[in-house]
Amino acid sequence: MTELLKCINLSKEYTDGKNSVTVLKNINFTVNKAEQIAIVGSSGSGKSTLLHLLGALDIPTSGSVSFEQQNIFEFNQNQQAQFRNQSLGFVYQFHHLLPEFNAIENVAMPLFIAKKPIKQANALALAMLEKVGMSHRATHKPSELSGGERQRVAIARALVTKPKLILADEPTGNLDRKNGESIYQLLVELREQTQTSFVVVTHDNQLASRLDRSLSLVDGVLSESNSSAGGL
Ligand SMILES: Nc1ncnc2c1ncn2[C@@H]1O[C@H](COP(=O)(O)OP(=O)(O)OP(=O)(O)O)[C@@H](O)[C@H]1O
Ligand SMILES: [Mg+2]
Repeated sequence: MTELLKCINLSKEYTDGKNSVTVLKNINFTVNKAEQIAIVGSSGSGKSTLLHLLGALDIPTSGSVSFEQQNIFEFNQNQQAQFRNQSLGFVYQFHHLLPEFNAIENVAMPLFIAKKPIKQANALALAMLEKVGMSHRATHKPSELSGGERQRVAIARALVTKPKLILADEPTGNLDRKNGESIYQLLVELREQTQTSFVVVTHDNQLASRLDRSLSLVDGVLSESNSSAGGL
């Protein structure tokens, strides 16, 4: 097994001068290449906070996250931009699509940033929209889409660069069973084709049970939540 990401003694505390709240306490776990991990936990347990740290979108109070043996918090600006654009796909809990761009432009954005030719970027974006069942809405802006449709466009945007690691915050939270299932199938397909690893935050126990490992976050402490699991 090849190690892709390793989280060591990761802690996060928010403080506003007077009050402080410890959201994550000494989190340790490893994501291997092609491994699919679910993180489950109640609202406010720190799932989004953890995912943001894994994607270097926030900085920890202590501890480290290494990606391919490099501490992501020691990346310089260029390395960090490259990590986010080329190695990582992030599906935000609240889609974060750009309102002034239509679906295909939103999905193609990471490819434009990576300086792919426009025609090629658009073709790849349309193919990805097709996979999430959204090609018929390619020219619609986010405000013209339903919540679930926006989520599917956001998923397409995270997958379009075929990153090594996808961090997804409730990717199927807004979707009905049929669309949730097709997203799950897409994750399986990507793993088979490109050895993509996933860390998926989900309330969907059925989805969690179908992934390789399920970790649960309770009061900022992460632990294995199924007996068939491998070591942390
Ligand atoms: N910037 C912040 N300042 C202070 N506290 C924060 C901040 N961001 C998050 N928190 C607190 O940290 C805790 C964890 O938040 P987080 O968003 O990670 O939860 P979550 O598990 O993703 O919840 P949900 O399932 O509702 O999305 C919450 O109690 C929240 O109020
Ligand atoms: Mg959250």
